Amino acid sequence: MPTRKATARAHPNIALIKYWGNRDDNLRIPVNGSISINLAGLETITTVNFSKAIAEDRLMLNGEQQAGETTGRVSRHLDHIRHLAGINLPADVQSRNNFPTGTGIASSASAFAALTAAACSALDLHPAEADLSALARLGSGSACRSVPGGFTEWHVGVDHQTSHATGIAPAEHWNLVDLVTIVSREHKIIGSTEGHRLADTSPLQAARIADTPRRLDICRAAILERDFEALADIIEQDALMMHAVLLTSRPTLIYWLPATLSIIQAVQTWRSDGIPAAFTIDAGPNVHVISTTEYRNKLNTLLGEIKGVQSVLTTGIGGPAHVISEHLDN
Ligand code: DP6
Repeated sequence: MPTRKATARAHPNIALIKYWGNRDDNLRIPVNGSISINLAGLETITTVNFSKAIAEDRLMLNGEQQAGETTGRVSRHLDHIRHLAGINLPADVQSRNNFPTGTGIASSASAFAALTAAACSALDLHPAEADLSALARLGSGSACRSVPGGFTEWHVGVDHQTSHATGIAPAEHWNLVDLVTIVSREHKIIGSTEGHRLADTSPLQAARIADTPRRLDICRAAILERDFEALADIIEQDALMMHAVLLTSRPTLIYWLPATLSIIQAVQTWRSDGIPAAFTIDAGPNVHVISTTEYRNKLNTLLGEIKGVQSVLTTGIGGPAHVISEHLDN
C-alpha cells in the first residue's frame, strides 16, 4: 500500500485590507475581498498520515495531544479532502508552530494552509494553487491567503471554487517588515469565527463593505508601485474601519488596550517625521507595525520604549505554502 503521509509548511499572514464578516459562514465566503502579506520566519509545519492503524483522527499540536473542538475542526476540514480523494481513512496529524500562541499572530491561517497542502499531497491530490487556496479557506478564511506567496489577494468570488486568493507580487517584490508589537498575551474573549457572525450587528458594517473595492484598489496599486505613503494611509484607514465595526457591534468588541493607542499615536508621529511606519491591528490588542528593512532596528528600539509594550517580533515577507520532504514525528 502506498504511504499516505506528507508534510507541508506555511506562513501566517497579516491582512492589510481586512476580512470581516461572511456571506456564507459554513463555506467561509466573505462579504469583502482582502489583501495580506505572508510573514517570513514564522511558520507552521504539519505532517498528515492517513492510516488504517488508528481508529479516529488524532491531532498533536506543539507536542500536545488535542481533543474536543480543536480536533473536530481539523477532522471536518479533512472530510472535505477525503471526500475529494474518495478515501475514508482516519488521519494522524502532527503540527508545530515556531511562533508563540496568543501573540497577535493568528495561527489558524498557517495551520489550515499547511494542513490542506499536506493532506492533499498525502492523498495524491495535486490541486492548482487557486483550488488549494479555496480548499484551505474552508478551514479558516484567512488561510486561503497563506497559500500563494508574498503579497496576496483573496477574491470574494461567487461560490466555493471562485472564492480564493492569488498572488499580487512575490515576497522579493518589496522589502517590507512587520514588527509585531505585543501588549498582551491573553486569549481573546471572542475569537474570529464568532466575531464574523457579529459583524452585521454593527450599522457601520454595510458602509465598510460598500467602500472595500476602493481600499483594495488603492492597496493593490500601492503594493505594485511600492508607494509606502499610499500603503500606510489606506491600511490604517482599513484597520480603523474594521475596529469601528467591532466597537459598534452587539456585544461591543473592544480589543484595544491603552498601549494599543499609544503605539497608534507614536506611529503616526514617526511617519510625519519621515519614518516609513504604518500600523494595522487584527481582532486583538497587539499592533503590527509595517515598515521597510532599513528602519527595522530603529523602530524596534522606539517601540520597546513605549509603556505597555512587552516585546516586539520582527518578520519579513514570506513565500507560499509548500510540501516538504522531512516529516514531523512527535
Ligand atoms: C481580523 O480567518 O481567523 O484577522 O475564517 O473564522 O477562521 P475564520 O476567521 P479568520 O479571521 C481573520 C480576521 C482578521 C482579519 C483578516 O485576517 O483578514
